[in-house]
This record gives sequence, C-alpha cells and structure tokens, in this order.
Amino acid sequence: MGEQPLVDVDQLRSEVQEHYAEVAHDPDGEFHFHTGRRATSRLGYGQELIDGFPEPCIEAFAGVANPFSWGLPASGEQVIDIGSGGGLDALIAARAVGPKGAVVGVDMTPAMLERASRNAEAAGIDNVEFRSGYAEALPVPDGWADLVISNGVLNLVPDKVAAYEEIMRALTPAGRIQIADVCVEVEVPEEARRDIDLWKG
Ligand SMILES: C[S@@+](CC[C@H](N)C(=O)[O-])C[C@H]1O[C@@H](n2cnc3c(N)ncnc32)[C@H](O)[C@@H]1O
Repeated sequence: MGEQPLVDVDQLRSEVQEHYAEVAHDPDGEFHFHTGRRATSRLGYGQELIDGFPEPCIEAFAGVANPFSWGLPASGEQVIDIGSGGGLDALIAARAVGPKGAVVGVDMTPAMLERASRNAEAAGIDNVEFRSGYAEALPVPDGWADLVISNGVLNLVPDKVAAYEEIMRALTPAGRIQIADVCVEVEVPEEARRDIDLWKG
C-alpha cells in the first residue's frame, strides 16, 4: 500500500461497481460521459481499430482517451488492460498481438467481466481472458506483461501509488505503459478528495 486514501475504500469500490454495472447493463443510458461509438469517434479511435467487432463489443466502451495513440502492441506480446470494462481495448490489443500473444483484462465489476467475456466470444477472439481483480492487486505473475494499458480507470483508484507499484511488478524490465486517464495539474483540495461523489464522477 502506498498512500492513505481519504475515502472509505470499500464504499468507493462498491459505488463505482454499482455505477459501472449500470453502464454494462444499459450502455445507452444517461451518464456524465459518452459511451460506445460516440465515445470512440470523439476519442480518435480510427475505423481500422474497431472494424469487424460486433456492435455489443463497442456499446459499453467508456474510455476517456485512446491508449493506442502511442501505437498497437506487437505480434506475440503479452498485454494487461487494467479496468477493462466492456473489453473493447483488450479486444483491440488481442487482435494486434495475434495467436502467439495474450491479453488479460482485469476489472472489479462482475457485470463488466461478464459483458467483456461475452464480447470476446462474439468477436471470436480467444487469446484474451478477463479476470476479476483490483488495479492495486493485479491477478498476474511478476514480469508477465510487455505492455500495460488502461483507459479511464486510475482516476477511480484511491491508492494510485499502489496501482503503479503493481504495474511495475507485472511488467518485464523492458515493459511499457500506455495509460489514458483524467489528470489535473493542480493539487486537489482535501475536501474534494474526501467526497466520494467527486471520485465517482
Ligand atoms: C471508466 S470505465 C472504463 C472501462 C474501459 N477501460 C473502457 O475504456 O471502456 C472504468 C472501469 O474500471 C473499473 N475499475 C474501477 N476501479 C477499479 C479498480 N480499483 N480495480 C479494477 N477495476 C476498476 C470499473 O469497474 C469500470 O469497469
């Protein structure tokens, strides 16, 4: 563990899970962020990234930017997607690494894990596995990954130092990270860091 979170971690996790279960079940619902195709096109996902995936694979996408703007993983690489949600980024990575590579998507919300696994099956992609787990305790062995990606997740994690320590543990010594997230350049006031509604939003 790194920093001492100012919120009740169990309560935050349970509220985040509840919120993203709604996205998994009803991705066209009213949220404070865009989902699905509207989100992929606003965030610069080229058609070549999403072409060929059945619509349900795209519907529950809820990322904040494009982790592949730094490039796709290479054939044969092993990739972890932290907070894989409905699984679109993990599926894109799985298609890029091909049959000699592997992708593990990690998420703490059961409804998202179910949706992502169904999506992988619908897309006919079998080199991806979705595992239940936390960003702060990744369910992968040390040094497993060549690349760690994540999209819109670390901003929801109260102990970011622990999450980055886990990323370093899971990567090979020459491993890379491609993380899309929400960042601020000023110190967030303590009052705001104690407000679960602001964490979730
Ligand atoms: C904004 S959504 C992004 C999902 C996906 N990356 C995408 O781009 O569509 C956030 C996801 O992160 C998951 N999540 C949030 N905090 C997490 C944590 N501490 N550990 C694992 N997953 C987490 C949520 O369950 C949710 O599926």
